Amino acid sequence: MIRARITATGSYVPDTVITNHDLEKIVDTSDQWIVERTGIKERRIAGASQASSDLAYAAAQKALKQAHLKPKDIDLVIVATCTPDMAFPSTACFLQDRLGIKHTGAFDINAACSGFVYGLHLASSLIRTEAHRRILLVGTEVLSRVTDWQDRATCVLFGDGAGAVVLEGTKERRGIMSTRIQADGGLGELIMLPGGGTRTPCSKQMLLKKMQFIKMKGNETFKVAVRTLEEIAARTIEDNGIDPSQLSLLIPHQANLRIIQATAKRLNLPEEKVFVNIEKYGNTSAASVPIALDEAVRAGRVKDGDHILLEAFGGGLTWASALLKW
Ligand code: ACO
Repeated sequence: MIRARITATGSYVPDTVITNHDLEKIVDTSDQWIVERTGIKERRIAGASQASSDLAYAAAQKALKQAHLKPKDIDLVIVATCTPDMAFPSTACFLQDRLGIKHTGAFDINAACSGFVYGLHLASSLIRTEAHRRILLVGTEVLSRVTDWQDRATCVLFGDGAGAVVLEGTKERRGIMSTRIQADGGLGELIMLPGGGTRTPCSKQMLLKKMQFIKMKGNETFKVAVRTLEEIAARTIEDNGIDPSQLSLLIPHQANLRIIQATAKRLNLPEEKVFVNIEKYGNTSAASVPIALDEAVRAGRVKDGDHILLEAFGGGLTWASALLKW
């Protein structure tokens, strides 16, 4: 049996740092409120000339370098994003072109913040069926362009960045052991970017209503996130016939430290088994899990044979998990 295995990781965040104190100057908020309610201290913001595919390219190059691969060794490019460069061509096509490869398929998927873990579900299935041998999967976002910098309820939460992985087949009993994806479209109105699509196309009216920006009912979203993540994490561990105590690391989506702590508590995981970098980057949506995974790998917190649980939650609503044996 062939399983998909992550053989390399890479990530990129833009240089510009916006701290909570910077935000205190533009909206009615405080460093204390943001840290206490979310765990975020600062976030990175893309430069004026940087789009999602540019961040993706920087992250992909690092992953390819770690894998000792050339772009031509890849046979499929998948990009998870809810902030594409444009509606089409896909961000994956822009990335494929930047990488200088023409022989692969390339497409985007959108499951908002769950996009990367949805992508793992897809890529893992494509490798298991031997439809593809070596897949480049990237989560990339420039959320700063769809953030209303006058809305304190959302502008303190988000940041920009990208994370990439290379997935290859293995016959060993390791790699992506199982994945779960779920959605509840009935709760879509809790987080949405309503303008600019075919429902409400770009118009002066649309812009006046600020529909080009993320709208979120934070508190209601928070409650659903805690409930669904606790459940999907526990079920994913059960699927693999292991006990939560056998997990070496939980790498959660970095949306809110309190959500992360609730999931960890439910699994009875001590702090040192939970990877957290939300204080540096905020919520980078589909980029959050692969950035955290890359940082965990490079910090030596992931070792051969470790059981690692990834989980994410986002607009849709969507949520997803993956159990890896490294
Ligand atoms: N600074 C100061 N006060 C604020 C701020 C701010 N930045 N934002 C909101 N407040 C105020 C509110 O106005 C409210 O005041 P009131 O009581 O006078 O009405 C009070 O703080 C409490 O607001 P809540 O929204 O109830 O605060 P909560 O504790 O729920 O925290 C937060 C808000 C951080 C957004 C939290 O609900 C959350 O993290 N939700 C989940 C987000 C998430 O997981 N999203 C999914 C991914 S996003 C994607 O897919 C793109």
